[in-house]
Amino acid sequence: MRNYRIAPSILSADFARLGEEVRNVVAAGADIIHFDVMDNHYVPNLTIGPLVCEAIRPHVQVPIDVHLMVKPVDRIIPDFAKAGANIITFHPEASEHIDRSLQLIRDHGCKAGLVFNPATPLHYLDHVMDKLDIILLMSVNPGFGGQSFIPETLKKVAEARRRIDASGRDIMLEVDGGIKVDNIAQVAAAGADTFVAGSAIFGKPDYKAVIDAMRTQLAGA
Ligand code: DX5
Ligand code: ZN
Repeated sequence: MRNYRIAPSILSADFARLGEEVRNVVAAGADIIHFDVMDNHYVPNLTIGPLVCEAIRPHVQVPIDVHLMVKPVDRIIPDFAKAGANIITFHPEASEHIDRSLQLIRDHGCKAGLVFNPATPLHYLDHVMDKLDIILLMSVNPGFGGQSFIPETLKKVAEARRRIDASGRDIMLEVDGGIKVDNIAQVAAAGADTFVAGSAIFGKPDYKAVIDAMRTQLAGA
């Protein structure tokens, strides 16, 4: 069995009580905090920035996984690194110089990754595998929590898994959007090891019950 990680997205948390929310979800078994950054330009929504990352940093020990849905990308990378991010991913369409953005993230001491929208081809991986620590596949169109999983993503997960295995490198394969207790095993079977879930966890009163149920599903995947 792979080493699976569950990464609750705080997009569906109660922003008025964010410190408490991240503490509670880590106590409930979260491995990573997924932090969705939207700019009302690359995606049609506006969320949280480095100040909020800095504010939650002292509340949790687990890695903070910053998913940048912003354009341009490079200007904001150092700010998130200083704010305590451990992983920073961006969408290749949003960067003029993908290799440079990946290197910039690594130069600031963070793990680096590319994010693929449902219709974005994986060929952006071709010449940068050596600079990747993580690949994030969107299973919804980015911008909002609570959307339905797009099943076509499963083929893409399998293809990304083939590419990672062929590279021989230790690259995380994360999937984001519409992940629930009832589909997480399918996504794992396709080859993913890291699962973002926003509404499935923060939309329920008992975070531990959901995370435990997800782990049970993963154990059978
Ligand atoms: C969407 C975000 C996701 C979102 C997932 O643009 O990147 O991380 O919060 O939310 P759910 O799990 O509700 O689909
Ligand atoms: Zn996300």
